[in-house]
This record gives sequence, structure tokens and C-alpha cells, in this order.
Amino acid sequence: MIFETERLILRPWRDNDAEDLYLYARDPQVGPIAGWPTHTSVENSLEIIRTVFSKPETYAIALKSDDRPIGSIGLLFNGDGIAPIGDTEVELGFWVGVPHWGHGYAPEASLRLIRHAFDDLNATAVWCGYYDGNLKSKRVQEKIGFTYHHTLENVEVPLANDVRTAHMNILTRKDWEAKQ
Ligand SMILES: CC(C)(COP(=O)(O)OP(=O)(O)OC[C@H]1O[C@@H](n2cnc3c(N)ncnc32)[C@H](O)[C@@H]1OP(=O)(O)O)[C@@H](O)C(=O)NCCC(=O)NCCS
Repeated sequence: MIFETERLILRPWRDNDAEDLYLYARDPQVGPIAGWPTHTSVENSLEIIRTVFSKPETYAIALKSDDRPIGSIGLLFNGDGIAPIGDTEVELGFWVGVPHWGHGYAPEASLRLIRHAFDDLNATAVWCGYYDGNLKSKRVQEKIGFTYHHTLENVEVPLANDVRTAHMNILTRKDWEAKQ
């Protein structure tokens, strides 16, 4: 599927996005705080597009002005995300390239994908987590309307070869409908 917001297009990743992806994902300020390693080459980014980013409900965040990706967003299902979640629930994840931080792109993309989760996928709740200290992600989640639910200690982060504390927030269908 493809979604449009005021400034963005959310669309499937394509092989020819690899150079743009590498441009942003090689920056150590992006992946490690979210639990994945910095990309090492355009070939590495292409491999990620063909594997991780080819999963269902994973979208490039592209600027409407030129359709080039500046970040990624996706919905994870039970078993794929940070926390165990129910079969009718999803977990939202996102990142935006450093030069594009601070323009509200992550919240804008998130709100559209959350609408998709409730309206088209019939989700009963959307979860979103962040690792301890990731205040920018925490802030995005507050702005979107998530509320704190619980903290998980000793969460294994295999891609980072690390163990971390994760804070989990939730947006229920009831909360979402009350805001519409
Ligand atoms: C978290 C992230 C997606 C936010 O994306 P964004 O499009 O910049 O989101 P916003 O513009 O709404 O900014 C969110 C907050 O980040 C902080 N921020 C924004 N620009 C910043 C910058 N250039 N430098 C430092 N902090 C900045 C601000 O606290 C801002 O909150 P505010 O709007 O109340 O000022 C982005 O910082 C990112 O990709 N970080 C690395 C990966 C990551 O953490 N992903 C989430 C995993 S849980």
C-alpha cells in the first residue's frame, strides 16, 4: 500500500533506494539507539531493503517533493517487536535521517500508519517502545498520544549484542477514537 500525508509518502522500499538509505543509516546516531547496527555500505543497505524492509507493513518515509526516502516506519506483529503483544495488536517502529530531524516527520508518518492499523488491520491497540535514554523517541510517542504502560528490564537486543531497559507505551483503539 501507499499512504500520503501532508508532506510525506509512505511507500514500499525499492532496490534503487539503497544509496539514500545508506546516506542516513551509516550515521551512528540513528540505528544503535533503536537497536540495529549502523549500515556499512550501499550493498549492506540493499541487503536490508531486500530482507528486513521487504517484510509486511514496512514503508519508506519519502518526501512528497522528490519521493526519496528520509526514514523508515513499520508495524510489527506478535513475536517480531520488543515486547510480547496480543494477536490483534501491533508495534510501531520508526526512524528518520539526522538531516531531517526536528520537522515532525516521525509523528506525521506515525499518525497515518496508526490510522491504517486501526481502520484497515482492525488492531485493538498499537504499542510503541523506546530504549532507556532515547528521549527523542519518547517525545515523539508523547506527541502522538501514547501513554506509558510498563518497563521491561534485561531486554535482549541481538542486533546490537546488548541487553537494555525498554519502556513500553500504548495507544488503544478507545484512546484513538476519543481523539478523532
Ligand atoms: C526519534 C526520531 C524518529 C524523531 O524523528 P523526528 O522526525 O525528528 O521527530 P520530531 O521532529 O517530532 O522531533 C521529536 C523530538 O526530537 C528532538 N529533536 C528534534 N530535532 C532534533 C535535533 N536536531 N537534535 C536533537 N534533538 C532533536 C526534540 O526533542 C523533538 O521534540 P519537540 O518536537 O518537542 O521539540 C529521530 O530522532 C530518530 O530517527 N532517532 C534515531 C532512531 C530512533 O530513535 N528511532 C526510534 C526508535 S524507538
